[in-house]
Amino acid sequence: MSAPLGNLSAGQFLNRYWQKEPCLIRRAFDDFEPLLDGNDLAGLACEEMVESRLVRGSMEKSDWTVEYGPFDESDFSSLGEENWTLLVQDVEKHYAPLQALMGRFSFIPNWRLDDLMISFAATGGSVGPHTDQYDVFLLQAEGTRRWQIASSFEPELLRDCPLNVLQRFTPEQEWVLEPGDMLYLPPNVAHHGIALEPGMTWSIGSRAPSGADLLQGLGEWLSFDTDEGGRYSDPDLQPAKRAGEMDAEALRKLRQLMLARIDDSDNVDSFLAAFMSRFRLAHEPAPPPEPIRSKDLLAAIQNGAQLLRNPWTRLTWIETPQGARLFAAGQAFDCSTSLAEILCQREQPAIEMAMLDKPSVDTLTKLINKGHMLLTSDV
Ligand code: SIN
Ligand code: CO
Repeated sequence: MSAPLGNLSAGQFLNRYWQKEPCLIRRAFDDFEPLLDGNDLAGLACEEMVESRLVRGSMEKSDWTVEYGPFDESDFSSLGEENWTLLVQDVEKHYAPLQALMGRFSFIPNWRLDDLMISFAATGGSVGPHTDQYDVFLLQAEGTRRWQIASSFEPELLRDCPLNVLQRFTPEQEWVLEPGDMLYLPPNVAHHGIALEPGMTWSIGSRAPSGADLLQGLGEWLSFDTDEGGRYSDPDLQPAKRAGEMDAEALRKLRQLMLARIDDSDNVDSFLAAFMSRFRLAHEPAPPPEPIRSKDLLAAIQNGAQLLRNPWTRLTWIETPQGARLFAAGQAFDCSTSLAEILCQREQPAIEMAMLDKPSVDTLTKLINKGHMLLTSDV
């Protein structure tokens, strides 16, 4: 299946728009049929494991309120016909058939993609004009929504407001999106969506760590390492000149010690991939109640059992001199590059007997026993 980018190829879209400019794609999805509706979404928002928000209010009154799920069915019966939006995160993980939709965005590396957030809005429903830190594809799934955007805006937010809503917003462009239309927005473009009738917007979101996120993660990662990475030493110490001063030479040596500890590239590459395989993951995958043995897994596959990725894991891999190191929700598994690629492919992995040498079966067994992969006979 091709990327849902209209006449643009993935390369053209990335060159011209990705992280640079908004892009409206009319009929990105022809005859789009949403696989769930507002009632299904409300049902999900009542479940314990599901992250959801109910936003009420309007631009005119600036009377925004936000409540967090899980909700009770009775919460929805008193909502009225206007000015509310229900937003649910990670819907493709809670409802596996939607993974195929995420697969249409596989021209973006999977470690850069986050989740499918679905909002159902009543007429007039909006979360106010705001900016996001991540690229997003806003797919109109049902009903119509007017989107207004501005690349220049004053960053001040409304005071005493439970949402990040811009105090002032002057749209530069606006469009009414119909089902199947999609608007791509890079980070930090102010946007405001208002439902013209009841309907859904499906947001395919991306993720990108900040330098601070990486450093915090790196500190945690290194703290599990038994190698302290040397210790400050100064056999050439000179008599102190000014009381209390850390002089330039001491600072240089300390910085050097720290950077040398970080700049062990093999270790750092593993950290980066492990970090990204967990970043913004709301739940950890749970191991199966009974571990499986390699020989039983091989027999199950011989008998036609299939492997599925647990939607609550993230898989990504890096090349190593021996093959691939695959990372799943922060854990590392060594395997061949071909197995790693198959496990990460857009469709569910198609494991063939011919590829099942002993190391591959052992890796798959470990992945199943840590909960990253599921055997179809168990699901
Ligand atoms: C919405 O679906 O109403 C909000 C999505 C967004 O602005 O990112
Ligand atoms: Co937004």
